[in-house]
Formats: sequence, structure tokens, C-alpha cells
Amino acid sequence: MKVAVLGAAGGIGQALSLLLKLNLPAGSDLSLYDVAPVVPGVAVDLSHIPTDVTVAGYGKDELADALTGCDVVLIPAGVPRKPGMDRSDLFNINAGIVKNLVEACGDNCPEACIAIITNPVNTTVAIAAEALKAKGVYNKNKLFGVTTLDVIRSETFVAQLKGKSTSEVVVPVIGGHSGTTILPLLSQVEGVSFSDEEVAALTTRIQNAGTEVVEAKAGGGSATLSMGQAAARFCFSLVKALSGEDVTEYAYVQVDGSEDAAFFAHPVKLGTSGVEEILPYGELSAFEQKAKEDMLEGLRGDIQLGVDFVNG
Ligand code: NAD
Ligand code: LMR
Repeated sequence: MKVAVLGAAGGIGQALSLLLKLNLPAGSDLSLYDVAPVVPGVAVDLSHIPTDVTVAGYGKDELADALTGCDVVLIPAGVPRKPGMDRSDLFNINAGIVKNLVEACGDNCPEACIAIITNPVNTTVAIAAEALKAKGVYNKNKLFGVTTLDVIRSETFVAQLKGKSTSEVVVPVIGGHSGTTILPLLSQVEGVSFSDEEVAALTTRIQNAGTEVVEAKAGGGSATLSMGQAAARFCFSLVKALSGEDVTEYAYVQVDGSEDAAFFAHPVKLGTSGVEEILPYGELSAFEQKAKEDMLEGLRGDIQLGVDFVNG
């Protein structure tokens, strides 16, 4: 497997690259690209860790080399939030960054699975899809918005609240990756029950967890270490699936014929060619159904913004 991280010198990029260097299957290649001049140093630094994963760093003008032959491309390149900002406030800078990087994927590794981390994910995934369509290489089964951070946060918060081990807790999270578009399905968590008050409080905490980190970092950025772990988990699932194992993960993907939105986080069965099947998310409680209906218009608007950015 060859895995590229675009934005590898950043907060997420470095944490993620460390986890990949430690845990990718032996024989894998890890390709680190960033416009920041420190990226070759990050690659040299990681290359001294004794695992059988080969690391190479690529600077500003070496994007094509970084991408050639890639099976998986993870994209955390772009600016993070500061306190007082919404994820949508990042659109002006990050939209163009994602479009350029995804176009380069279309040129250099059109068969790769592309996982978008850069915010606003609700919109940047639609940008990526349109950019690949314009190049005639779009494969909806190989484009993902990474929402795994919402899943791991939900597991942590539920386990804390109910005195469980995190390893026992599975929490489905559907929708998008911003505010109320993040919809944890607490009614489907097995082995625990919640009062109405707990559901309301926990749902709000999960939806605002990114802001919790942004405020705690007080101008120093947003979640990087937990996101590194979330993206690594998603990448390992993809790598396993591409190697022939059956894996199911939640991700923000194109859902044809959806009554919800053109892109929506669902449980997806992954296989050797990316998404093999988009699984239904099951029955919602009355609270979840209302929360979904209330957020759909906003999510559809976020997606349209991305489509219009590419198509004018
Ligand atoms: P950061 O500023 O620490 O790192 C970003 C990196 O991107 C920098 O090294 C920068 O040089 C690089 N970069 C900028 N433009 C680039 C380009 N054109 N090509 C290659 N690299 C480029 O930021 P961060 O904390 O790592 O966050 C990155 C992004 O991830 C932000 O948009 C943030 O909102 C998003 N994020 C998403 C999630 C999620 O759940 N999907 C979670 C956390 C953060
Ligand atoms: C998160 O959920 O932590 C990320 O989307 C970063 C942010 O801006 O909140």
C-alpha cells in the first residue's frame, strides 16, 4: 500500500503520519506532502522509527511525485478554526486548497481512495467530487469525508457517562460534520439506556465537541491529536478493505437517491474497490428524526456551495 498525507507538516498531519508510520502494514510506503518547508524534516524524523514502513517527504513543487502510485490519499491540508469561527468560515481559504489537491489526485492517482479531512467537510467533499467529475475520473465509491472523529468522541463520551469501557461502546453517527448536521444515534447504542435529558445533553456535547477543543486551545487551532487517531483508524479500515477484508465504517459519502442529502454519513461496507455497499442507518427515535429534519436544509446548502464553487 502507498498512502499519502497532504498537509503532513500540520497538527493533524504530523500526528496522523506518526500513527501511520507505526501501524501501517509492513512494506507500505508513506508519502508526506506539504507546502511548509519543514516537510522533508518531518519525513526524516519519522524515518528513524524502526518499522517496515518507508517514509518520503515531498515539498511544494513535488505533489505529482508524492501522489504517483497511491492507493489512499488523506487530506488534512488547510487552515483550522479559531474561537468564534464556524467551520464554514474556513471555506474561503480551504475550498481552493482542496480543489487543487484533488485535481492533482485526479491527474496522478485517479484510482486512489481519497479521504477529505479539511473543513468544512460538508462542502469540501462536494468540491472534491465536482473537481474529479470535471477531469472525468470521479468514482463515488472512492471519495470519503472523514467523520470518524464524531464517532470516537461519541464512544468516549458515552463510555464516560455510563461507566463502560470504550471498547464495549459503539455509537452510530450520521449526517454531516458541522454543528447540528452531526447526528449521533444514541437510541441505537446497545447495552445502555439514556433519559431524555441525557440524550439532549449528550447530543449537544457531541455536536459541539470540536468547538470545545477550539476554545480550550484558545487560538492555537482545533483538534489535531484526536483527529490524527480518527483519521488513522479510518485509513487502517480502508487499507484492510482494499486488501480484501470485510470492514464497516461510518463516513460521509455520496448516496444516490437519498431522501436526506446528496452526501450523508452512513455506515458503509468497504471492500477492494472502496465503498461496496451503503448500509441503511436504521430506525430513528422521534428526537433523532426531528433533529435530522431540522438540519437537512443546512446540509444541502453546504453541499450546493461546494458544487457551485467548482461549476461557477
Ligand atoms: P494546521 O494549520 O496545523 O496544518 C495544516 C497544514 O496544511 C499546514 O502544515 C499547511 O502548511 C498545510 N497546507 C496548507 N495549504 C496547503 C496546500 N495547498 N497543500 C499542502 N499542504 C497545505 O491545521 P490542522 O489542525 O492540521 O487542521 C487542518 C484541517 O483539518 C483544518 O481545515 C481543520 O478544520 C480540519 N479538521 C477536520 C477535522 C474533521 O473531523 N474532519 C477535525 C479536525 C480538523
Ligand atoms: C472538529 O470536529 O474538531 C474539527 O472539525 C475541527 C473544528 O473546527 O471543530
